[in-house]
Amino acid sequence: MAGANTVRPYRWLALYYDRVFSFARSWGKAPRMHVLGRLLPLVESACDLACGTGSTAVTLARRGIKTFGVDLSPTMCRLAREKARRVRVPLRVLRADMRAFRLPEPVDLVLCEFDALNHVPRKTDLAKVTKAVARALRPGGIFYFDVNNRAAFKGVWPLTWYIEKPGVAVVMHGGCDRSGERAWSDVEWFIRDGGRWRRRHEHVEEVCWTASEIRSALRDAGFDTIRAWDAAPLLTNDPSIRPGYRTFYLARKQKTGD
Ligand SMILES: C[S@@+](CC[C@H](N)C(=O)[O-])C[C@H]1O[C@@H](n2cnc3c(N)ncnc32)[C@H](O)[C@@H]1O
Repeated sequence: MAGANTVRPYRWLALYYDRVFSFARSWGKAPRMHVLGRLLPLVESACDLACGTGSTAVTLARRGIKTFGVDLSPTMCRLAREKARRVRVPLRVLRADMRAFRLPEPVDLVLCEFDALNHVPRKTDLAKVTKAVARALRPGGIFYFDVNNRAAFKGVWPLTWYIEKPGVAVVMHGGCDRSGERAWSDVEWFIRDGGRWRRRHEHVEEVCWTASEIRSALRDAGFDTIRAWDAAPLLTNDPSIRPGYRTFYLARKQKTGD
């Protein structure tokens, strides 16, 4: 039986991610360029943490950056490897939990996009992730990520919405607890199988942290410079975004001797 510490890896969400959430491939480009644009030419190595199907990892590898991808879902890992192979870029994908992952060598940049960080099962897991990220970075390396905030948990997660694509439809309905610290989505899949439609179910949960909890976890892990941007002005193509719903962060790991 899965314990409170266990994460259920994406299954149907992984298989149909690129088809159903096709917007995800370009969703993060504007904020990434806004926050990282001037730093990217200095980056020689990177890790896309919770890389999903590898869209961002492949974008970085295409720039000549030595890139690793890390994801917990075996299907996501396979799809990321296949995507890199298709476009002939080198990408090493490791199946690992973001709370404990280790890279073969330290990198200049770790990214964790599209609220992947919120997917850990417990609030206390944030400290595990920031420590694992700090270990993966060289001194002075940078950590770029975005998180869903409590306002999004209350404003967006209780809504019901659907997406339909050829051969697959998905209905998502969820909620959040009274404190707004935990949100969930029940994902109902309708997948065409020959002449029939099969129904599948998946349950996804997220936890959230206040800005001060995030800053304190980053500082404890050895990050010194921490900056934050509200997502609303950066994600103008995302109709679900309101001010305060999502935040992008950039944190620099302390340089030795700072
Ligand atoms: C919303 S998707 C984001 C994927 C990708 N970053 C993107 O921008 O499209 C969340 C990803 O986090 C991964 N994930 C969830 N929990 C994880 C964990 N504990 N460790 C590593 N990956 C995890 C899922 O498998 C999924 O690929």
